[in-house]
Amino acid sequence: MRSSTARASRPSVPIAIATPAFMRDIARGWHVDGASIGLVPTMGALHAGHMSLVDAARRENDRVVVSVFVNPIQFGPGEDLARYPRSPERDLSMLRAAGVDAVYKPSVADMYPPGASSRVIVHGVADSLEGAARPGHFEGVATVVTKLITATSADRAYFGQKDAQQDAVVRRLASDLDLGVEIRVCPTVREDDGLALSSRNAYLSPPERQAAVCLSRALGQAAEAYERGERNPDRLRSILREAIESEPLAQIEYAEVVDPASFSVSGSLAVLAVRVGKTRLIDNHDLRLPYPG
Ligand code: PAJ
Repeated sequence: MRSSTARASRPSVPIAIATPAFMRDIARGWHVDGASIGLVPTMGALHAGHMSLVDAARRENDRVVVSVFVNPIQFGPGEDLARYPRSPERDLSMLRAAGVDAVYKPSVADMYPPGASSRVIVHGVADSLEGAARPGHFEGVATVVTKLITATSADRAYFGQKDAQQDAVVRRLASDLDLGVEIRVCPTVREDDGLALSSRNAYLSPPERQAAVCLSRALGQAAEAYERGERNPDRLRSILREAIESEPLAQIEYAEVVDPASFSVSGSLAVLAVRVGKTRLIDNHDLRLPYPG
């Protein structure tokens, strides 16, 4: 693991990188110069949540790569791949303003050329909740994250607490596959009313947007109960469910209190997946911590 002492000067315009081979060459050159590399994997449509990861990566590394790749293999057949929000020009200007060193934006054909058939499968932690609701999703995430970490030779990779099960899956694979990368998880960035920032919030109509606050409200109420000493998982789960059920536009997919590393029941992490209208939103909070706001 390299330290972040070798501070090389940063280019004012990030290098645009389109292929894994070019990415590898650039990263190798940085390591030869003694620079540490931070990777922020994203699917674009960037918002302040993504940018908080970029800021953390900049503080802790000499070089920062942000990948922008809408990964088709992590979307199920009925999911929103075709309409997933895309804002390439805005993304680029945000990344330029944030002073990143490179934007890695491979094409689908470069990532999955004809004949590509290898997949990274994480057992256990990837099986419940999101894994059960979205078959194949974590296989797609684990495969692309492994490819991104490998191509960028990242010393550290940055993820958001918002996708807590993804974080646990990535930690598992990084350790199991000896990737030699430190997985850093940054706090969830929220709107003033508590709604976690998400590219998918763009799908919400104004009444749905108002209804969507029920997720963070539910987590806040469970956190209050936990602070008052409530430890019974059934009662904590009921608090989550009742808060969501009181919102007519919202439908619970799951509301559980799980162990943050294994994602099996039960533990201190409250996790929610809720449909608001047609939009599927997720959120979570570790009940041992004070709820923000
Ligand atoms: P995406 O949804 O674009 O998210 C990229 C990263 O931003 C993830 O680590 C996610 O947890 C983090 N993030 C999203 N909303 C956040 C918020 N409100 N506060 C803090 N961090 C937030 O997650 C993915 O892309 C993909 O699955 C990916 C890891 C890139 C693999 O394709």
